[in-house]
Amino acid sequence: MRPPAKLNISLVVFGPREDGYHDLHTVMGTINLYDDLHLKFADKPGIHLYCTGLECPANGDNLTYKAAELLARHVRLEPAVDIYLHKRIPAGGGLGGASSDAAACLLGLNRLWSLNLPQEELELIASQLGSDVPFFLNGPVALCTGRGEIIQKLPHRCKRTILLIIPDIHISTAQVYRNYTFDENKVNEDIRRARYFLCRGDLDGLLIQGINSLTEVTMSLSEALQNLRHRLNDMGIAEVHMTGSGSCLFAVSESMGEITAWELEIKRQNIAQPLQVSFYDHDEIFLENHHADF
Ligand code: C5P
Repeated sequence: MRPPAKLNISLVVFGPREDGYHDLHTVMGTINLYDDLHLKFADKPGIHLYCTGLECPANGDNLTYKAAELLARHVRLEPAVDIYLHKRIPAGGGLGGASSDAAACLLGLNRLWSLNLPQEELELIASQLGSDVPFFLNGPVALCTGRGEIIQKLPHRCKRTILLIIPDIHISTAQVYRNYTFDENKVNEDIRRARYFLCRGDLDGLLIQGINSLTEVTMSLSEALQNLRHRLNDMGIAEVHMTGSGSCLFAVSESMGEITAWELEIKRQNIAQPLQVSFYDHDEIFLENHHADF
C-alpha cells in the first residue's frame, strides 16, 4: 500500500472548544508523495513494526502501531501481524504522513483480517487516532469540518503542480494550536473567501489564496521558518504558503518553467528540500493504491 501525503488547500481555524480541540473548515487533497506500507500475517503473536527510510518511531508510539492495536482491540482479536513501513513523508511537516499510514493500516487490516467493517465504523476508529486520519480513509479531496473528522468528499480537483518546500524544521502541532489566537473577523472573511471558490468548484483558485489560519502563529514560533520564507521571497517567490501547522511550505505557479527554476535555486542555495508534486485526479487511483497489495 502507498499511503499518500496531504496538502491543506485551505485551512480555517475557529476558537478553542471545551475539549481543547479547535473546530476547522479545511479542504485537503492527497498528493503524489507516498510512504510504503506492507502488512503480513506474523508467525508469532503481537504487532511487529519494522521501519525504514526517514526517521520514525518503530514502537508503540507510532500511529500505525496504535491503529493496529486499536482495531484488534475493537474486534477482540489477538493480533499477529508484521508491519513494514518505509517512510518518505517527513514528520512534523503538516503533510499528515503518520495519519495516512494509520488510515492505510486500518484499511489494510480490515481486508487482511477479513473483518469487513463498514466505512463508518473505520471512521470512528480513525477519529480516535487523530483528527486527520478519517480524511485519509476518504480522499482524494474533501472538505473536513468538526475537529477535522467530519468529511465531505469533493468532486473537484486541483490541477496545479506544486513546489513543495520541505525544511529541516519540526513543529509541534499541539504547540501551534496552543499559541493560536482566534480573530473572528479574519476567520469570517477567510470562510467567505473559501466558500466563494468552493461554490464554483475552483480549487486552483482556492489554493492560490493561501488561506491558512496557522501560518503566522507557526512563523512566530520558528525564526528559522521565518528566515526561510524571507529567503524564498528574495528569490522571487512572492507567495509562499504553508500546509497544516507547518513546517512544510509550498509555492504555486502556472508556469512549469518558473516552478523548475525555483526548484533549482532552492537546491543551489541548499536552504530546504524542494519537490514538485501534484494532487490526485481520480478516486480510483486512491483506492487502487490502498488495495494494490491484496
Ligand atoms: O488530533 P491530533 O492528535 O492530530 O491533534 C494533535 C494536536 O493538535 C491536538 O492535541 C490539539 O492540541 C491540536 N488540534 C486542535 N484542533 C484540531 C486538531 C488538532 O487543537 N482540530
